[in-house]
Amino acid sequence: MKNYNIALIPGDGIGNEVINEGVKVLKAIEKMDDNLSFSFKSFPWGCEYYLETGEMMDEDGIDKLKGFDAIYLGAVGYPGVPDHVSLRDLLIKIRREFDLYVNLRPITLLNEGLTPFKDKRKEDIDFLVIRENSEGEYSGAGEWLYKGEPEEVVLQTGVFSRKGTERIIRYAYEEAHKQGKTLTSVSKGNALNYSMVFWDEVFEEVGKEYPDVKTYSYLVDAASLYFVSDPGRFEIVVTSNLFGDILTDIGAGITGGLGLATGANINPEKNYPSMFEPVHGSAPDIAGQDIANPLAAIWSVSQMMDYFEEKEWGEIILKAIVTILNDKDVLTSDLGGKASTSEVGDHFIKLLEKYERGYINMDR
Ligand code: NAD
Ligand code: IPM
Ligand code: MN
Repeated sequence: MKNYNIALIPGDGIGNEVINEGVKVLKAIEKMDDNLSFSFKSFPWGCEYYLETGEMMDEDGIDKLKGFDAIYLGAVGYPGVPDHVSLRDLLIKIRREFDLYVNLRPITLLNEGLTPFKDKRKEDIDFLVIRENSEGEYSGAGEWLYKGEPEEVVLQTGVFSRKGTERIIRYAYEEAHKQGKTLTSVSKGNALNYSMVFWDEVFEEVGKEYPDVKTYSYLVDAASLYFVSDPGRFEIVVTSNLFGDILTDIGAGITGGLGLATGANINPEKNYPSMFEPVHGSAPDIAGQDIANPLAAIWSVSQMMDYFEEKEWGEIILKAIVTILNDKDVLTSDLGGKASTSEVGDHFIKLLEKYERGYINMDR
């Protein structure tokens, strides 16, 4: 029997609502699989916690999380607390402190009715964005000079270390090599004359070790166009922290929206717990209404199972998502349905229970 310790950080707004449904899925798996169990510990960190205590997480929060096998996070950020405080002191802090330098964000069309394009088939939109997740434009370095004065100037420094750039690019080449896929680097060397020139050089250098991997290199503006005009050209994409953030919201836009976009924050060396979360935020505009789509958070559970090497469960969850997407009646309003968050979760569990381990006949 394998037991996995999972730290829950539901966070703010719809984060709480969607994590509830994901936990239901984990508990259902535990019930169906005699060889698996999960222990949960929930941490109340987030904006409300900040308003009560002056901190987004406990001072020793990182230590508290260290021993877990994984972190399952909802969303962070809410009006009332400045976004740069809430995000940098919780979400970004965990990514950095635990060196979760690989962010895996699949851009996969699971249901052809969900893309805004009339002519796109599933096989036209099925790729993986590997986002650098620990430094780059998110380094936090900078300066605010002459505040309030006419000479005021603000510097925001991108930090691209040799180690940080090489390891993410090498990770992406390894994946492309293992999966037999093409690798596309997205950068912006024409304008960012230090960081992205360096990025491009490293991409080329590391590429020499992988002569079998066919590569492409696009500027981020053109890549943004191709994401919507010709997504079929991508198989694996590697890009910097900020570009990856923006591109993956575009990716969500062509595959069903943020309610259906997941991301895994991975430390490949397994020195620290990896973190699983939907791509979306706390959605204050719909929070508290029980209408948030929990499927992105449920897909995160699938990524967590893959990470635990429980790949069969990862696949079953994904197939159950594909199945539920065929039935508008049990989807939330962002996907054209009328169901509540918890109704989607409950229906999902019923679907899951129909499939015993090892017996999969859901259509992908
Ligand atoms: P958001 O992702 O919260 O919402 C953008 C739009 O998508 C909204 O219209 C929202 O209603 C919709 N949406 C998002 N998730 C949905 C879901 N599951 N079901 C249905 N609709 C959904 O982005 P935002 O409004 O720019 O940011 C709100 C807050 O969340 C900010 O504080 C921001 O910094 C934070 N944020 C946090 C994370 C995170 O914790 N990972 C990610 C993005 C934004
Ligand atoms: C994401 C989010 C975060 C990011 C924000 C909330 C700091 O947008 O995970 O995509 O930019 O990484
Ligand atoms: Mn984002």
